[in-house]
Amino acid sequence: MSVGKAGTESTDVVRRWRAHADDCVLLDGFHALKHALRFGAEIPLVLTSDRQGALDLAADLAPDVAGALAARAVDVPDDVLRTLVPRLHPTRVAALAVRPSRTARLAALSDTARRAPVVVLDQPRNLGNAGAVIRLAAGFGATGVVTTGPLDPWHSTVVRGAAGLHFATAVEQLSVPELPAGPLFALDPEGKDIRSYVLPDDALLAFGSERSGISPELRDRADHLVSLPMRSQVSSYNLATSVGMTLFHWSAGHEFG
Ligand SMILES: C[S@@+](CC[C@H](N)C(=O)[O-])C[C@H]1O[C@@H](n2cnc3c(N)ncnc32)[C@H](O)[C@@H]1O
Repeated sequence: MSVGKAGTESTDVVRRWRAHADDCVLLDGFHALKHALRFGAEIPLVLTSDRQGALDLAADLAPDVAGALAARAVDVPDDVLRTLVPRLHPTRVAALAVRPSRTARLAALSDTARRAPVVVLDQPRNLGNAGAVIRLAAGFGATGVVTTGPLDPWHSTVVRGAAGLHFATAVEQLSVPELPAGPLFALDPEGKDIRSYVLPDDALLAFGSERSGISPELRDRADHLVSLPMRSQVSSYNLATSVGMTLFHWSAGHEFG
């Protein structure tokens, strides 16, 4: 390929990336792309500056997506790819995915016959925590993750922390009055021991902010205040850890596929 042709192709790729970037979320690295492909995301553009490395990773770790990756991945020079992403992922793969429609997400969350809980993060502050929670929710097959407050749960740092698993569960930002119907269990160290509850499949499992815990507004909406076992003198667990323990408690007796 002549230098001139390569340059023209790069310009075209940059133009296509910029055209989609505002309406899409960034899939940062091979693992986020892998999950988005598996869970049916619409992915208009996949770029890599290490095509063979990406194909080798797919062959080793995710042969189910190897064909889709090979068909979609567009080669770009490393210096061009670095201009399109805040920090190039070590796998040198970046892609853009269309957010699922808000209508579809709200329908999944408000389905009163839902078969797995909705996780509510009340005023979370830390983008990495939110990503870790979405990853947990996806792993346990939770119906969705709702955040209240200003944090955007589709922020690229959250998508990175969730390894692209936003497409495996319904992720939405709502106010407390907009929360779906269902019994609300608010997790708080002052609550009643979780081991005395069987958490129902249509539960809302709510967790407070890293700094100040459950807000008064959410506390008012709660049907139960529930605690995780913790020895005295320990103040609290990390937010994502608390979600993991609670979903594990819910999952007793459920099968996953
Ligand atoms: C880091 S903690 C918040 C600590 C905060 N200083 C407070 O006053 O609650 C974040 C959230 O994790 C959950 N959490 C942490 N430890 C818990 C425990 N032992 N029992 C129930 N929930 C817990 C709660 O939902 C809490 O709001």
